[in-house]
Parts: sequence; structure tokens; C-alpha cells
Amino acid sequence: MRMPWNPQQPESCVPDSLVHSDDAIVVSGMRKSFGDFAAVDGIDFTVKKGEIFGFLGPNGSGKTTTIRMLCGVIEPTGGGARVMGYDICSQAELVRANIGYMSQKFSLFQDLTVDENLKFYAGIYGLSAAKFAERRGYILEMADLRGREKELTGNLSVGWKQRLALGCATIHEPRLIFLDEPTSGVDPTARRHFWELLNELAAGGVTLFVTTHYMDEATHCNRLAFIYRGRIIAAGTPHEIKDELARDTILQVEVADGEGALAALEGEPGIKEAYMQGAMLHVNVGERSAAEADLPSRLGSAGFRVLGTDRVEPTLEDAFVHLVGKQGGRA
Ligand SMILES: Nc1ncnc2c1ncn2[C@@H]1O[C@H](COP(=O)(O)OP(=O)(O)OP(=O)(O)O)[C@@H](O)[C@H]1O
Ligand SMILES: [Mg+2]
Repeated sequence: MRMPWNPQQPESCVPDSLVHSDDAIVVSGMRKSFGDFAAVDGIDFTVKKGEIFGFLGPNGSGKTTTIRMLCGVIEPTGGGARVMGYDICSQAELVRANIGYMSQKFSLFQDLTVDENLKFYAGIYGLSAAKFAERRGYILEMADLRGREKELTGNLSVGWKQRLALGCATIHEPRLIFLDEPTSGVDPTARRHFWELLNELAAGGVTLFVTTHYMDEATHCNRLAFIYRGRIIAAGTPHEIKDELARDTILQVEVADGEGALAALEGEPGIKEAYMQGAMLHVNVGERSAAEADLPSRLGSAGFRVLGTDRVEPTLEDAFVHLVGKQGGRA
């Protein structure tokens, strides 16, 4: 897809020497400030073609702002990026033509039918009638929307809307798709179905850049980056990121009053980190810590009823809490 270098090509913030033919995205020192506030504070990372790249971070950490810059929708205030070889500032139009973008708020027209939404996006990307017929057929099958072509989009359940939004974002067969929290608000079955679709796209060589809050989804990704307060605080494969905790012992404690127990453990000796993971209390007691043996009795004598304690393998969520903690924050 990359255009050969020629003297007509506009200047880029990312030098040619940093961009390789197997790179889908190369980000270099990219920044976006709104007034004095740096929503994205100088980030660097690379996404290889064919990867599923997970971009994780808490609310307000800069995920959508990053995606909007990479899609050529807003301009960075510093640094830049190349997307499929194109510069996001000077070649934003080419970037937009070569990517698909499924935004956090599915960009569907609720008062148009399924077919009308598809037609609208086909128009934006200038598909011929024959190409549209082919893509429409494929998308209706893929999204399980056959028979619903004339239904008003607003009447579809969230799972259908999500698949229609993916269809619209991919109508022009982009080789790179940005998906901003594509599964938020969707039930677990629909989420699983959606990830099957994403895996099919990836198997066909399409690069996927996905933001999510669901840690279980992050394990579907080949590589991840964690963004926190506008900065990348970790990047690597899920395995590499979990390795951050390889030397620590994580205990999962089932206790009647988890939040109370959590408060009681704050600042206690031998407790590196403690936090709730779902209904369970997770306690990182660090390396070869005596706290492992006496945690149940310590909680018991503080008046908490401990129902069970298990040593567990660190999850990505454990790693995330740890990484945010290292920054002096709370996940
Ligand atoms: N146009 C804007 N003007 C001012 N501040 C903005 C603007 N867009 C985003 N921000 C701020 O930048 C920060 C990052 O926002 P962003 O939407 O990128 O976060 P996010 O990681 O996508 O969060 P979420 O998980 O809630 O979607 C937030 O503090 C947000 O309020
Ligand atoms: Mg967002």
C-alpha cells in the first residue's frame, strides 16, 4: 500500500527511516493539547501489519483522542504518525480513504434503514454499484442481518447495531480498522460473536487497532499498549505485560466484606497492592513475603470473615493495577 517515495510527497513528522514496509502504524512523539491540558502527552508505538493491537486505558486517558488523530480527524499539536504509509497531517485524506473507523458512539443513522446506512457509507467511499452489491451481500451475511435490510436502525438491538457499524466501517475493504470500544454495552454472547468476526478479519490479514475496557478481550490481542494520563506506561504482548508481575505473589481472597477488608489492608506491612477484582479481593504480597501465610489470620483478627484464599496467576488486570500504581495512581 505504501507509495514509493517521490519528491512530490509532502513532508512528514515521522522520518522515512522510522517507517518499514510491514508497519501499519508508526507513532512518534504524538501529542494533543486542549488549551493547557495534554490529553495525549507525547506517545510512541508501532503496529505491524496483520496485528490485533489492543489499546487499553482508564476513562479519559486519551484513547479516543489518539484514535481520532490516527484516523486523520483531528491534528496533533506535536509529533505525528504514519498510517499505512501516509502522514496523518499532510495526507489525512489518503489516511481516511485507507482505513475503517468504528467510533465509540456507533456512527449510524438511527432513522435510516439498515440498507440506507450501508448505502450512505458506500457513497462516502465511492463504491461502484457492482462493488456495493457484492459488499452489501457479504456484510448482511457477516453481520447476520439478512432479512432485516428494511428495518430502521434505531429499532435494532445493540448487538445488531454493533455488527452493522462494523459493516459500514469496512464497506470499502480497508486493510486497517480502528475500533473504539466496539463491545461496550453489548452482552457477553454478542461480544463473543463480535470477536469471532474480528478474528476472521485478522485471519484475512487486516490490521485491527482496538480499544477496550474488558481485560478478557485484551487477551485476544497480539500486542497491547496501556495509556494512562496521556502517556504509554507499558507495551508488549499480553504475556510480556503480565511478566511484570512474574516475581510477585498474587492472592485472591474471598471475604464477606471485600471493600472493608481492602480499607483495612491499606498501608499494612507486606502488602504491595490490594484491590477488588470483581467480587474478589486481590492482594499482591510481593516477592517471598511472609504476608502470604498470615494474611487470613490478620484479616480474621481485624473482624473479617475470610471464606478462602488462593494463590493465582497474575492477570492483565493485576498487571494494569500494578502499572497504574507505579505511576502513583489508582486504576
Ligand atoms: N475536544 C476536547 N476539548 C477538551 N478536552 C477534551 C476534548 N476531547 C477530549 N478531551 C479530554 O481529553 C481527555 C482524554 O479524552 P479521551 O476521550 O481521549 O479519553 P478516553 O481514553 O477515550 O476515555 P473513555 O474511556 O472515557 O472513552 C479527557 O480528559 C477529555 O475530557
Ligand atoms: Mg474514548
